[in-house]
Amino acid sequence: MHETAKAIVTNLIYLIEEYGYVLNGARAYYTNRSQPPLLSAMVHAIYSRTGDMQLVRKSLPALLKEYHFWNSGIHKVTIQDAQSCNHTLNRYYAMWNKPRPESSTIDTKSASNISNVSEKQHFYREVASSAESGWDFSTRWMRNPPDLTTLATTSILPVDLNAYILRMELDIAFLAKVTGDNGTAEHFLKASQARKEAIKSVFWNAEMGQWLDYWLNDSTCQEPQTWEACNRNQNVFASNFIPLWIESFHSDKSLVKKVMESLKKSGLLRAAGIATSLTDSGEQWDFPNGWAPLQHMIVEGLGRSESKKARSVAEDIAVRWIRTNYVGYKKTGTMHEKYDVEKCGEFGGGGEYAPQTGFGWSNGVVLAFLEEFGWPQDRKIGC
Ligand SMILES: *[C@@H]1O[C@H](CO)[C@@H](O)[C@H](O)[C@H]1NC(C)=O
Ligand SMILES: *[C@@H]1O[C@H](CO)[C@@H](O)[C@H](O)[C@H]1NC(C)=O
Ligand SMILES: *[C@@H]1O[C@H](CO)[C@@H](O)[C@H](O)[C@H]1NC(C)=O
Ligand SMILES: *[C@@H]1O[C@H](CO)[C@@H](O)[C@H](O)[C@H]1NC(C)=O
Ligand SMILES: *[C@@H]1O[C@H](CO)[C@@H](O)[C@H](O)[C@H]1NC(C)=O
Ligand SMILES: *[C@@H]1O[C@H](CO)[C@@H](O)[C@H](O)[C@H]1NC(C)=O
Repeated sequence: MHETAKAIVTNLIYLIEEYGYVLNGARAYYTNRSQPPLLSAMVHAIYSRTGDMQLVRKSLPALLKEYHFWNSGIHKVTIQDAQSCNHTLNRYYAMWNKPRPESSTIDTKSASNISNVSEKQHFYREVASSAESGWDFSTRWMRNPPDLTTLATTSILPVDLNAYILRMELDIAFLAKVTGDNGTAEHFLKASQARKEAIKSVFWNAEMGQWLDYWLNDSTCQEPQTWEACNRNQNVFASNFIPLWIESFHSDKSLVKKVMESLKKSGLLRAAGIATSLTDSGEQWDFPNGWAPLQHMIVEGLGRSESKKARSVAEDIAVRWIRTNYVGYKKTGTMHEKYDVEKCGEFGGGGEYAPQTGFGWSNGVVLAFLEEFGWPQDRKIGC
């Protein structure tokens, strides 16, 4: 479906040209918050299948604009490590301090116990920023789980966002090189090296074999903040493994081995896929829900490493995921937006709306897994 893929990407490029970033959804009332930045990976994927130079040329100025949005102003934070080296990383920060227009009643009710006006506005910003992250909602963003009023997404440097921006830097370098713009390519390769260092210094926890989100002491972020070990969020989330998706990390064989062992021991790997977290909070981006894009990025990362063992773990996760999607489909006649990773064939729940069917990313990930691993005739298809 190369034409469809290109058409979707063209729509996203239009949003950047018009607003400076890919909106949280293509609707007027989403103009004050972004979507996690994944467009560069989409352009890269289409180019690698089609060699479409016209798309590359059209997308590059938009990607540079999107990069600037993420890597400047309120999204940019400097952390000074123990050796006094400064690292720049990025955070979610919605430009919105009112109830989300699409969930106004719910948000007003959630804020009803907050009487101080500026604290109320702050809470609304945290709600919108959580939506911007894609993980709406999760204990990952709460100071005091499962109390939703303690959402503090803008006070966190998220591992996955920074992995996506590293990927953006590598993709822009690659696409610029393809067009013969060596200067831009070199600039972004350099930026990617700096971010790789930053991800290692700020997020990487060698004892756990995971990358951990980092809590900011001062969310105004006007001054560099000194890195402190105690500010790492030691809780286990699927996002702690997302850097594996990036070639700079999955091409490192000993690193992959360490992270893979950590994943196997983490408690996230269940009968029907990878759980989002270990906390059953009733929110949708928590246990026992599993989401297609998280399975996909982790499986792609393990599957592209040189380690045979990692590739077989990747296939094992993919098989569990395909099974639960297939059995759920046979039972209900639809694909689902999220699945219960504890029970093969069951879709997920929680959060503030009825579980959705359809569903674009679930369809896409099942097709990608089948294309990658196939389905041997002697492999059982049921749970
Ligand atoms: C990091 O930033 C601080 C504050 O701007 C500055 O004083 C310090 O010299 C910087 N460190 C390095 C190694 O450049
Ligand atoms: C939304 O963003 C626009 C500019 O993009 C800005 O003018 C407006 O003040 C923002 N609204 C809120 C509530 O922050
Ligand atoms: C507001 O506070 C009351 C009393 O503590 C509590 O019962 C209620 O659940 C709270 N409402 C919300 C939306 O948190
Ligand atoms: C409201 O909260 C802000 C921030 O916590 C605080 O600075 C301010 O004094 C509070 N206002 C009132 C009226 O209590
Ligand atoms: C860019 O680099 C490639 C090789 O890396 C080289 O062949 C090409 O001539 C360079 N282009 C320019 C404009 O310098
Ligand atoms: C930053 O926050 C952590 C944990 O909340 C605290 O232990 C530490 O003392 C704080 N550091 C500074 C410099 O305020």
